[in-house]
Amino acid sequence: MMDATKYSVGYYPPPVEPGHVYEWPQKDHIEQAPAWCSVDLRDGNQSLIVPMSLEEKLEFYDMLVKIGFKEIEVGFPAASETEYEFLRTLIDGNRIPQDVTVQVLTQCRDHIIRKTFEAVKGAPRAIIHFYNSTSVAQREQVFKKSKEEIKKIAVDGAKLVKQLSEEYEGNFLFEYSPESFTGTEPEYAVEVCNAVLDVMQPTPDRPMIINLPVTVEMSMPHIYANQIEWCSKHLKYRDSVILSTHPHNDRGCGVADAELAVLAGAQRIECCLFGNGERTGNVDAITLAMNMYSHGVDPHLDFSNMPAICEVYERVTRMHVYERTPYAGALVFAAFSGSHQDAIAKGMTWRKEKQLHQWTCPYIPIDPHDIGRTYDADVIRINSQSGKGGIGFLLQQNYGYNPPPKMREDLGYRVKDVSDHEHRELSVKEVLGVFENSYLNHTQPLNVPDAHFIQNSDGSITANVVVTGGGSTVKCTATGNGRLDAVATAIEQQTGMHFTLVHYSEHALDSDTNSRACSYVGLKWASGEETWGCGTHTDIIVAGIKALVSAINNK
Ligand code: KIV
Ligand code: ZN
Repeated sequence: MMDATKYSVGYYPPPVEPGHVYEWPQKDHIEQAPAWCSVDLRDGNQSLIVPMSLEEKLEFYDMLVKIGFKEIEVGFPAASETEYEFLRTLIDGNRIPQDVTVQVLTQCRDHIIRKTFEAVKGAPRAIIHFYNSTSVAQREQVFKKSKEEIKKIAVDGAKLVKQLSEEYEGNFLFEYSPESFTGTEPEYAVEVCNAVLDVMQPTPDRPMIINLPVTVEMSMPHIYANQIEWCSKHLKYRDSVILSTHPHNDRGCGVADAELAVLAGAQRIECCLFGNGERTGNVDAITLAMNMYSHGVDPHLDFSNMPAICEVYERVTRMHVYERTPYAGALVFAAFSGSHQDAIAKGMTWRKEKQLHQWTCPYIPIDPHDIGRTYDADVIRINSQSGKGGIGFLLQQNYGYNPPPKMREDLGYRVKDVSDHEHRELSVKEVLGVFENSYLNHTQPLNVPDAHFIQNSDGSITANVVVTGGGSTVKCTATGNGRLDAVATAIEQQTGMHFTLVHYSEHALDSDTNSRACSYVGLKWASGEETWGCGTHTDIIVAGIKALVSAINNK
């Protein structure tokens, strides 16, 4: 049995200030992209079952640069030989573009800070990110130190970082994180950060990053937003501080934490692709960036080739991009259900007809083309849940067929039937197969291989028709209102069948000069049953006869 009495809310909301109203809830969307810092190669890498090799890290790093990350935490060089070597490879191999700053992580411990400076020597620009744990749990259980002692760790760390940055050649920027911030009293977190800031003395020209991480997600996102806004208001040197957020995803709200933190004053987000990272991961950079994009805000990160990014990520991390991962998962634009497909198909047609620039398609939040996905393979997917709208749309988009609505319905049932029986999804090609097998140019058991027409003075048409069937060939003649009507009457007279022509339509199938015509015929039989046929031919009359014969053969 689960026992909820074992737990209580373990977070620390900011102190209540009478009459104070938080500003962030008044804002309804993010207006500009924050500064992004990828922590894939450190936080993401340290959480992998098999951490990346040097070559894999280099490939990942190149991809991050290509996507447009300007700040990249490349590791914890004092923690492992690979991280050290990787950093040196970047620096010595001149692999850090002018507009990219690498970031290195170090605990606030003397020898680790020193090793970090050794590792980062010669970097064109580097952020030295130092941290220590400040939460109640860590103070009591892990470090067994008082608040003052924990603050001293941070201040001593800051002093050494400052001293070494003056001794070592290089262009250094600084970041401090009160790690386990979400388990820390906000007043105390601010006290520690302000003490660090007093040492570092940032200026508006050389600001310092203060990162308030959701090391463990302990509250609902609005509590975190309150913490961020409160800290933002109580930090010293605020115009010289870049306020950063670093949400993990323990409660599944990492994205909400980051978004609300930005509303509350955070200017920078540390994140990982696909939400990789310790435990439930770091906040997903892709979801955040694409959420902004879908609100018309340029995230300044380029995900226009999402399939390629997924491929590299899966290969080098040995992780899997879950099918429902926002924006990137294989199924996130897929509609299987008939009503969704119908709405999407209509939305796409509307968009084309009105030549809309603005994306308003039902059910699909962004244009899949923007991130390198296709409509065919990614959006309308066919299984036993699918409907006429989507099936017809696919047929039209891919093969140019535009059957009438009632025929689409008939086709819909046939396609669902196949999928139902075979218990699987059908490809577009298989949908075409069902269409062709069901309706197209059927010549068995009946066929009309030849027909000639005479225009009568009263406007009627007489057809001389060759009808084959059941092993025999006969010539027959009949008159009707039009050519198709005359052929239909000839067939009825010859075979004794009775049907009514309830639908005829046609369109060009190909766009070139030898374009084939495509005709659709619907027949109603005495029993009330309706059957459908489709005919294609370069001669539109022949196409119509083929459609009629196919509809008859479907009885
Ligand atoms: O999650 C965390 O708190 C961290 C810190 C080192 C910023 O990764
Ligand atoms: Zn982290």
